Amino acid sequence: MQDVIGELEKRRARARVGGGEKRIETQHAKGKLTARERMELLLDEGSFEEWDMFVEHRCADFGMADQKVPGDGVVTGWGTVNGRLVFAFSQDFTVFGGSLSESHARKICKIMDRAMQVGAPVIGLNDSGGARIQEGVDSLAGYAEVFQKNVLASGVVPQISVIMGPCAGGAVYSPAMTDFIFMVKDTSYMFVTGPDVVKTVTHEVVTQEELGGAVTHMSKSGVADLAFENDVDALAEVRRFVDFLPASNREKAPVLETPDPADRPEQSLDNLIPANANKPYDVKELITKVVDEGHFFEIQPAYAGNIVVGFARMEGHSVGIVANQPMVLAGCLDIDASKKAARFVRFCDCFNIPIVTLVDVPGFLPGTDQEFGGIIKHGAKLLFAYAEATVPKVTLITRKAYGGAYDVMASKHLRGDVNYAWPTAEIAVMGSKGAVEIIFRADLGDPAKIEARTEEYKERFANPFVAAQRGFIDEVIMPRNTRRRLCGALRMLRGKELQNPWKKHDNIPL
Ligand code: HXC
Repeated sequence: MQDVIGELEKRRARARVGGGEKRIETQHAKGKLTARERMELLLDEGSFEEWDMFVEHRCADFGMADQKVPGDGVVTGWGTVNGRLVFAFSQDFTVFGGSLSESHARKICKIMDRAMQVGAPVIGLNDSGGARIQEGVDSLAGYAEVFQKNVLASGVVPQISVIMGPCAGGAVYSPAMTDFIFMVKDTSYMFVTGPDVVKTVTHEVVTQEELGGAVTHMSKSGVADLAFENDVDALAEVRRFVDFLPASNREKAPVLETPDPADRPEQSLDNLIPANANKPYDVKELITKVVDEGHFFEIQPAYAGNIVVGFARMEGHSVGIVANQPMVLAGCLDIDASKKAARFVRFCDCFNIPIVTLVDVPGFLPGTDQEFGGIIKHGAKLLFAYAEATVPKVTLITRKAYGGAYDVMASKHLRGDVNYAWPTAEIAVMGSKGAVEIIFRADLGDPAKIEARTEEYKERFANPFVAAQRGFIDEVIMPRNTRRRLCGALRMLRGKELQNPWKKHDNIPL
């Protein structure tokens, strides 16, 4: 008996050392943790149950038959994050550069299948040189099988990708199909073709970091949702993030008790809106003043800043917040903002997270850039996302709600459940100046007349009461009572049930 136990221990020890001490040292020297160290930080202490530790590749080409490392470059299994079940994989760069073989792929697919069956999130820690070159098409087949699982799991269990090293070629498409991508600054990158290919094809000279580093994907491409300073920070934030999410589409997110009273007044909100309608204010101040304990987990903070999205809690329950940001482009909706918010709204809807929408929007951004770029289709994404969402939708118009953007931003007409407005709300087809210049074009030569007409238009529409008279706004509320009102609406809506007509799937404008 002692012999076989000894043998098991020996085999385990061999698997745990991955590609060997030297490669582990190299990994550490780059400021990166090993696959197992990462798993330890991601999961609750002692909770990790590893699977397939002894799986090996079956490739015999290019001398591979003599180069087998138990586990084959990926550590997989399950454990808990703050007591809740998750499945995870962590690619081991010390084994063939974390490259994906047929066996490596099969290990990932196995945990994904189980996660879907039992209903638990999948967290992937990516650090890989891509397809295992020696395996050829077997490796490509493995990738495609992972992609297929990503698609089947989409909307069933939350999928989170953390990019902690290289992620290049077709390999980027697995993270791209998951719900969120987090990156580590300076040590991770993602691109479809690397700098060398770029140079050959387009003659552009660009570094790995410029082409696909965390800053690029956070601010330019919008591919990444968040970036962190190092592995430790990234994994700590993933743990915090998982707490906002339900285990699957069959469940609700966990409720975290809060000492913050639901009826807490916030007097300062009475003065948040500047007297001058063209002056901006920071919508993040409004968000942090109304959510539990001021905690807001923002997603994509450096991309399309004219719309703010992220998670918070109200009375301990997770909510998704979508808010126009008057500080950037006056809060206009443009292509990037529409895509960013549409994807967020759809995530919340998949996973039973109520949506709170804070509206201050002067309209869609005009211009040839936007029209040629397809704002019609991209703006329609957000409209579509809100209109199909069946989760509780609570909307507050703080100031401007003009034109099509009024309709889009979770209006009553898109099945907004509770639609509030502050007394400072202005709900109209457009701003008074623009409106008067169109409908009183004949008077344009007479400034006094135009001024009088502008005042008349303002008087009529620069308020929430016309919409409230029609029931499009359920109640005009005091800014200071916003938290109480939002919490109350969300509480009332907890039992909401609503279903869209049966269909195979919808056809959102892509
Ligand atoms: C097999 C690989 C590998 C790969 C790296 N290694 N990538 N082995 N298949 N794809 C091995 C190396 O041989 C080396 O082995 C070890 O991993 C570490 O690699 P280094 O090059 O020493 O590390 P580093 O200098 O940090 O460079 C990392 C790297 C580079 C930038 C990722 O290794 C690289 O360019 N690899 C190839 C990337 C690539 O072209 N992959 C295919 C992409 S196409 P030793 O034994 O020396 O430690 C693709 C298609 C997917 O992925 C399609 C899906 C549809």
